Amino acid sequence: MLGNFTYENPCRVHFGPDALDDLPGELAKFGPRVLLTYGGGSIKRSGLYDKVIAALDAAGKSVVEVPGVMSNPTADKLREGAKVARENDVDLILAVGGGSTIDYAKGVSVSAWTEGDPWERLYLNMEQPTGKIIPVGDVLTMSGTGSEMNAGSVITNHEEGLKIGHVFGPEVMPRFAIVNPELTFTVPDYQMRAGIFDAFNHIQEQYFSGTDDNTSDYIAEGLMRSLVHASRIAVKDPTDYEARSNISWVCTWALNTLLACGKSTDWEVHMLGQAIGAVTDATHGMTLSAVALPYYRLVMPYGREKFARFATNVFDVPAEGRTTEQLAEAGLEALSAWMDEIGVVRHARELGLTEELVPAAVRATIILDGGYHKLTTDEVERIFRESL
Ligand code: NZQ
Ligand code: ZN
Repeated sequence: MLGNFTYENPCRVHFGPDALDDLPGELAKFGPRVLLTYGGGSIKRSGLYDKVIAALDAAGKSVVEVPGVMSNPTADKLREGAKVARENDVDLILAVGGGSTIDYAKGVSVSAWTEGDPWERLYLNMEQPTGKIIPVGDVLTMSGTGSEMNAGSVITNHEEGLKIGHVFGPEVMPRFAIVNPELTFTVPDYQMRAGIFDAFNHIQEQYFSGTDDNTSDYIAEGLMRSLVHASRIAVKDPTDYEARSNISWVCTWALNTLLACGKSTDWEVHMLGQAIGAVTDATHGMTLSAVALPYYRLVMPYGREKFARFATNVFDVPAEGRTTEQLAEAGLEALSAWMDEIGVVRHARELGLTEELVPAAVRATIILDGGYHKLTTDEVERIFRESL
């Protein structure tokens, strides 16, 4: 474990089929005014909305709502929520939904009492919130992003062609998360697959960095193995509780700051995927699956040893009879085969990226230097063209 780090995660997670029973106990810890936020209607169709409202009523809360949080929440929607939260001086923001709704709740939490335009200050300029941070709690309905237990908040600005994630400090992490894997049974198949790859890539983004012997990498390998195993079952039978519950738990741990301990971390696949999202509004996990292989093939020669370790420790590729390079390549082949098996998008064209949009995607790509190779702009362009 090289370097220094502080590990802190104040989020209390209630996990399992009965997790919603713990909502009243959590609500009791906060003041009377609650902002309830949710997406486009799935929670009404599933009946979850009624259960949450009943819990809020029983707890004597006065509730204001911001419904209609879209996938890839926008800067305009953020401004709307910040205004509602501030005008009602809410004590808690309760997010019921997937990563978009929870990211949004965190965005509203830091924006409500920060003066000025939240998009410009907190996302474009990456400033820290200056006002009160409103506590957030969540009831998760879709697994993938890890947003339920982390301080990330990703906001899209279509006018500016940008999608930017700000990872805030522990004070922005949700105070509690209700994770009932059964709630994910109704997630559309496409979204389930996207969520699985999203979480897998979160682990890869942290794993493919550094050369020291690091406990975080061993944890990462275990999580990846569990996810590969469970995903194979879930794509055949989405209502297999054992598989879906393992997927949910892996997704939560894939991105709640634990795996980043002692790691420089890469995150370039996410930067490329977010750029596609900025110009197409495509589903996040699928933007990652479209660019992952072109990216990893390009950077693999700079981190061959780690890619070889990935092959054996995650996909059980036998090392015997293979050079390090052959083993590393076989690992990427195994990754590719698994991606096809679980049915994720492999061509960015399917997401709306075109030759003409590639320059805009290149402009929207933030280049980071935590992984094995810092991309040049030409390489970014090459990856997008290969991904088509
Ligand atoms: O809006 P509703 O009607 O709820 O429908 C949603 C949405 O259409 C639906 N859905 C969710 N749970 C459901 C369900 N439908 C039926 N039954 C359920 N139980 O699924 C669709 C996708 O939901 P969304 O929240 O958009 O997906 P996801 O969880 O993948 O979140 C994506 C957002 O999170 C950001 C992404 O960039 C994107 O904006 N990310 C957040 C991260 C973080 N906080 O750390 C990290 C990630 O890398 C990611 O960038
Ligand atoms: Zn992601």
